[in-house]
Amino acid sequence: MEYIELNNGIKIPALGYGLFMVDPLKSEEYVTQAIETGYRLIDTAQVYNNEAGAGNAVKKSGIKREEFFIVSKIWHTNAGYDNALKSIEISLKKLQTDYIDLMLIHMPYNDYYSIYMALETAYKNGIVKSIGISNFDTGRYIDIAYHSEIKPVINQVETHVFNQQKKLQKAMQEYGTEIMAWAPFAEGKNDFFNNSILKSIGEKYNKTAAQTALRFLIQSGIIVIPKTIHIDRMKENFNVFDFNIDEQDMQLIKNMDTEKAVIGDFSDIEYNKYVLNIKL
Ligand SMILES: NC(=O)c1ccc[n+]([C@@H]2O[C@H](COP(=O)([O-])OP(=O)(O)OC[C@H]3O[C@@H](n4cnc5c(N)ncnc54)[C@H](OP(=O)(O)O)[C@@H]3O)[C@@H](O)[C@H]2O)c1
Repeated sequence: MEYIELNNGIKIPALGYGLFMVDPLKSEEYVTQAIETGYRLIDTAQVYNNEAGAGNAVKKSGIKREEFFIVSKIWHTNAGYDNALKSIEISLKKLQTDYIDLMLIHMPYNDYYSIYMALETAYKNGIVKSIGISNFDTGRYIDIAYHSEIKPVINQVETHVFNQQKKLQKAMQEYGTEIMAWAPFAEGKNDFFNNSILKSIGEKYNKTAAQTALRFLIQSGIIVIPKTIHIDRMKENFNVFDFNIDEQDMQLIKNMDTEKAVIGDFSDIEYNKYVLNIKL
């Protein structure tokens, strides 16, 4: 495993296991398999409804809590300072832990400043070890980073070979905020796993398109949290630390960037409405 040092000095694994759309009733089983595979970073969220499953798996693993890096996210319906703080307590209970390693504002909707202030309080109280944001574009990022006392350690955004987030990554250097890539496989869109560039580069290193895509992001300084419910794919996605993509091949993949979202287009009215209407 490789690690990235966050702007508060805490180290985070460069690869984790994502739980979006993972059936709450199956989440314990899948997280257990992920832990057995070697994953220690687990990405869940209040709105995924699988914090409890993740918490059970961590607890039953018998592995020390300090070895894990648990990420969760506050949904926008929990906006308001008191509500947001209460929601952190609920997440802690579901996760069966005394602290969450990283808590994010899930979406830049509603009164997210109140959520951020609650996160700062939780950070000072020690129940959250790092705080950050998700789905913040450059303007919103600069605003919150500029005005906050505790700078966000991470902005979790849609990042993959087709949407490499270079401009955002550059803007975030000022406050030392790292990118965590959601949908590192673009959720399989654009026939991702059969992409000819990723496949042909992968063949040189004896790796699949999926492994090549993850390695590219990790070598670009980006934390990745691929999701799969298949144990063979958990192993495949984890097995990305025994090779390096050379400069020439990195450039070929850099050229795949379209600088456009494939899944979460926040300039699209319907997408915004769809997300806004998701209730806890
Ligand atoms: N902050 C946010 O707003 C936000 C939004 C979306 C996601 N996320 C986080 O980011 C994580 C990852 O994103 P994501 O789940 O949306 O998409 P993703 O990881 O890009 O793609 C997941 C899809 O790829 C398939 N897959 C995984 N590994 C594969 C492999 N080696 N070969 C072939 N197919 C493979 C999975 O199928 P199977 O499961 O059937 O194997 C699933 O359909 C989420 O789970 C969540 O934790 C955050």
